[in-house]
Parts: sequence; structure tokens; C-alpha cells
Amino acid sequence: MLGIFKSNRLSHPVDYFPIRTDIHSHILPGIDDGSPDLTTSISLVKGLMESGVSRSIATPHIISDLYPNNAESIHNALEKLKNELVKQQIDFEVSAAAEYMMDSYFLELLQKKVPLLTIKNNIILTEFPFAFMPDHVEDISFSIFTEGYQPILAHPERYGYTHGNYKVYHRWAEIGFHLQLNLLSLTGYYGNEPAKAARYMLKHDLVTYVGTDMHHARHLEVLKSPASIKIFHEYLGNKEWNTIFN
Ligand SMILES: [Fe+2]
Repeated sequence: MLGIFKSNRLSHPVDYFPIRTDIHSHILPGIDDGSPDLTTSISLVKGLMESGVSRSIATPHIISDLYPNNAESIHNALEKLKNELVKQQIDFEVSAAAEYMMDSYFLELLQKKVPLLTIKNNIILTEFPFAFMPDHVEDISFSIFTEGYQPILAHPERYGYTHGNYKVYHRWAEIGFHLQLNLLSLTGYYGNEPAKAARYMLKHDLVTYVGTDMHHARHLEVLKSPASIKIFHEYLGNKEWNTIFN
């Protein structure tokens, strides 16, 4: 019976994530605050596979003063993981983009027309600082669109400055950000406020994509727990998300 459900992603299988393609994770080894080494990366991949995910577009941080990654460092880490997957005969598709912090370095990349790492076509994954609401969000989005990119904004529900100020979600969506919810937010893993904000965003149809934003084994453990899967089912419905990336 389970096998039938597993092959039909329209009915949400009881033990699966609501995605086949994860568009936000930190599973590449050794280049940000995610997986520290290849062994961890492989175990995270195996966990994703057990949860029905067959493809990951890994998104290491690019934050100028913390994780100064670039196309080369990300490519090298990706190749390491891909080679190990082949070596261990693990059938999992992995590619890489980045999670761009919208800081001055990011604006410099745009200005200098450095090709950005895209999730698909012209789509990039971006994030805001956690500590403060950035100024001039409209200007930033204008620059992104001017350079021909379509931004996804990672985990808006996690930014503390949006709690009690939900109208910013509507505004960010209006100015062209596709909003990406972290699955873990729905479980309360990051606390009550992000969980509430996540539910608000879903209720108001503000969520375009979901992602694991998986950094380590603890994230995987919570994501895979039956209680979490039940919550995903409850709030995300009987459908598969992120299908344009399959
Ligand atoms: Fe992330």
C-alpha cells in the first residue's frame, strides 16, 4: 500500500516530505555553517532520500565577512560530493546555487555584473540579515530585476523584525520576491513566532516554495519525525511543492 502512495506524489505520502526537489540546503561539505565534511554530507543526503527527496540544489551561504564563497569554492565542494555519491553508488541528483546575503558585497556583484549562481534559469536564492530589517529593500529588488534575475527570499518567517509586522511579507511579495518557507518553521523548531508567521504566510497565500534549509543531523532528525511530517501534511496540503524545479 505504501508503495502505491510513494509513486503518486499528488497524494502526500505519510512518511515523505512534500517535495522531491529541495531548493535550499547546506549539504555541501566544508564551506559554510552546514555540513563540515563529506561523511556528514552523505548521511544528510541519505536522510533526504529516505524522505522522498531525489534532488537537491544545494545553496551554501555567500556572506562577504563570514562565508566568502564564490563560484569556484562552491563548484569544488559540489564536485567532491558528486564524486563521493558516484563512488558509493548513491543515486541522488545534486547541483548547486547559493544563498546570497543581500549585503553590500551582493550589490557589488550585481553592479559588476558577475554572473550569479542560479537555482534554475534566472532564479536566485537570497536572504536578509537576521539582526535588522535592511534599508532600501525596493532598491535592492530593483537592482536584482534590472540585472535580469528573479529573487526567491529565504525564510521570511524567521526574521524577528517581521513578527507583529506581517504586512512586510505582502510588500516583499508585491515587489517581486518569491517567498520560501522553511519546513522546520512549521514545526516550531525555531520557536513560536516563526511558526505563527509561517502559518500566516500560508493562510494568505504568500508562500511560493518550501525548503529544508538543512544544515546538520539535528535538522534532519526533526524534519523526519512523524510529528513534523504530520504538520507538513496539515499545513501544506496534499500536494507536492517546488515542482517547477523537478
Ligand atoms: Fe540557508
